[in-house]
Amino acid sequence: MTDLLTTDKISLVYTDGERNTYALRDVSIEIPDRKFIGIMGPSGSGKSSLLYILSGLKRPTGGEVRLKDYAYGGRPDRELVDLRRTRFGFVFQQPYLLVWQTAMENVLMGAPELHEEARRKAQTYFDQLGIARLQNKLPSQLSGGEKQRVCVARAMMNDPEIIFADEPTASLDHTNGRLVIDLLSAYRERGTVIVVTHDPEMLTGADTVLMMRDGESQGWVTPDQLAEVGAKSKTISLGER
Ligand SMILES: Nc1ncnc2c1ncn2[C@@H]1O[C@H](COP(=O)(O)OP(=O)(O)OP(=O)(O)O)[C@@H](O)[C@H]1O
Ligand SMILES: [Mg+2]
Repeated sequence: MTDLLTTDKISLVYTDGERNTYALRDVSIEIPDRKFIGIMGPSGSGKSSLLYILSGLKRPTGGEVRLKDYAYGGRPDRELVDLRRTRFGFVFQQPYLLVWQTAMENVLMGAPELHEEARRKAQTYFDQLGIARLQNKLPSQLSGGEKQRVCVARAMMNDPEIIFADEPTASLDHTNGRLVIDLLSAYRERGTVIVVTHDPEMLTGADTVLMMRDGESQGWVTPDQLAEVGAKSKTISLGER
């Protein structure tokens, strides 16, 4: 089986005057098709940076990133915009919605074409996410969690090959967080879903989880191993008190 996404020694360096910060350092990973992938690691370990590069929102300072055979690390903006619009879907920690458009109109923005089928599809997502009654509301009339679910629906509208989600459940309570994760994880029947999160519970159903530390990949673990690491670190911190 060929991998969907691969990175070859990617780095991302931020230069601030004399100082260089390595947000990513020589990260080489392979991400298979139709899987639910988690990314975890401490704050500042490069999780968002990795997502930005995989999704073509930023270019790597070094190395290469590929979608199947298509290398896009150094492509011009126009091509990257096209790549993101046609083949990727996004859910961010902060829901970006157009404030003067209703929830339904925002979701339809994600559709490649506006027709009855798109509306039906959007309707299905609203139902599945438990926000059917909110479709004619403006974002200002929605809670953070409700807005987040609108973003999830929008991300799925163009049938992307990959959905990138950066802490999509951070502003949700546990029940709503679970709802969003279940819907995202079910998407693996159609494409790969990559979720960055601080909450290992959200990754219990993941196929595999990439661990990041100090801008470097620490390799892959299973959700079971993740739970073990979490339990151990809790024991240690309790013991240290
Ligand atoms: N625009 C920037 N300029 C300079 N340094 C940056 C910039 N953005 C991020 N960094 C640095 O790059 C490193 C990785 O940041 P990144 O946002 O990828 O971490 P993260 O793992 O997503 O953290 P968190 O869990 O807090 O969201 C951090 O040390 C951060 O301070
Ligand atoms: Mg982050």
